[in-house]
Formats: sequence, structure tokens, C-alpha cells
Amino acid sequence: MITIKNEREIALMRESCRIVKETLEFVGKNIRAGMTTKEVDELVYRYITSCGAYPSELGYEGYPASSCVSVNEVVVHGVPGDRVLLDGDIVSVDITAEKNGFHGDACRTFLIGNVSEEKKRLVKVTEECFFKAVEGLQAGVPLYDIGYKVQAHAEANGYSVVRALTGHGIGREMHEDPSVPNYGKKGTGMRLKAGMTICIEPMINTGTFKVNFNRADGWTVTTADNMPAAHYENTVLIKEDGVEILTL
Ligand code: MF3
Ligand code: CO
Ligand code: CO
Repeated sequence: MITIKNEREIALMRESCRIVKETLEFVGKNIRAGMTTKEVDELVYRYITSCGAYPSELGYEGYPASSCVSVNEVVVHGVPGDRVLLDGDIVSVDITAEKNGFHGDACRTFLIGNVSEEKKRLVKVTEECFFKAVEGLQAGVPLYDIGYKVQAHAEANGYSVVRALTGHGIGREMHEDPSVPNYGKKGTGMRLKAGMTICIEPMINTGTFKVNFNRADGWTVTTADNMPAAHYENTVLIKEDGVEILTL
């Protein structure tokens, strides 16, 4: 179901999203080589709960942690564990927090120590894909223009766009309609409405767009060719005359 938020609900979304933003800043200040992904998850749990919020990923469809910590070839849903972060890794940390019944959701890909120019460019282009997608975004814009812009920028830079996972609406539920793909045909899809809140989250691969789902843990998504991937996400409010990026 697509939900349109009123002013009161938008104020609550802002609060949850501010907590998400601050948590990612806290992670950015503390993440370093030698830490395990589990230790990153502990930072997330500690910060979100200290704000009186709940890390919505914990227990979501049985998910066992407060964050998704995805290193290098892991695209998304990396389950925190014993993997040690190494100099040169890129690590996406994707978190969702709920307070007063509303969720905020965002992800950043962090650079650990000395990262190769190739991986740095991947991370930069992935962020740019998001900002291309929100350029000119407002009520009335067709939904699939978002994916069209993400895909065009990624492919123009020689990268590929993951098809198997998408962005989504968000509000009282972490995942609401509509689905927001990172690929698509310009001028198609429903027209966005003011008061919609959606997560735009480019997942960009260095090599093939194909991914594998780990059957053993039920969560980890990796690139099929084991080449690096990056992920960047914000929760975005659609307005009559533009957008408000709630997790920035
Ligand atoms: N935050 C993720 C998203 O962007 C959701 C992860 S669900 C989890 O949609 F269960 F894997 F945490
Ligand atoms: Co997310
Ligand atoms: Co999301």
C-alpha cells in the first residue's frame, strides 16, 4: 500500500531519519581496519537505542542484527559476524531506525584506510547516481524516471545496476509500496505524489549486474563475479516543488 504522510507524520519521519543520519555519522567516525563487522553492528545498536529508537532490522523476518554490513563483493544484507575489516575494503552500512511508529532508512559505503582508485570511483559514482535521481524530482514525476537516471549514470561510467533488489516506500512499515527500481524506462510508472516518502538506494556493481543469494545464512547478497559493489541510500520526502532528503 502507498501511504501519503500528513504534516504530523512527516515531523515524526524527520525525527527517525535524523537518528539514522546521526548513527551513520557515528559509525563513520569509529569504523576502522581491524574491527569485525559484528563490532560495527554493536556501534549501530548502541547509538540507535541511546536515541530511544529501535533498530528495525533486528528481528525483521528473522534478521539477526541491527545493521547490514556489506564488505567489497557483498552487495547488501551482509550479516554482521567475524569478518575483519581490512585496509583497502569498502564497507556499506545500511541501517533502519524506528521511533514513534515511523521508520527512517539509509546506507553509506565507507572507505577503510587506503582504498584503490577503482573502488573509490565506484563509491563516488554510486553516490552520484542517487543525486542524479533526485535532481528535478517532485510531485508529478513518473516513478521509473528515478531508475532511468540511476541506470544511465551507472552505465555511462561502465558499471552495472543490480536488478534483483530495489528501493521502496517507507513509513509505519520499513518496506511499503511502491517498489523503486534502480533501472527503468523514462516517462513510465505512476506519478509521484506530495507526501510520499521513498527510499532511493542505488546498488551498483563493478562487473556483472548478477548477484547470488547465500543459502546458508539466508541473507547475504554477493556479486556473481565477486567484484566489488557499492550501495548508497536515503529516505526522501516528495513535495509539490521538490524533495526533502530526510536522512542527510
Ligand atoms: N535497510 C534495508 C533496506 O534498505 C533493509 C534490510 S532488511 C534486513 O531496505 F532485514 F536485512 F535488515
Ligand atoms: Co536500507
Ligand atoms: Co531501504
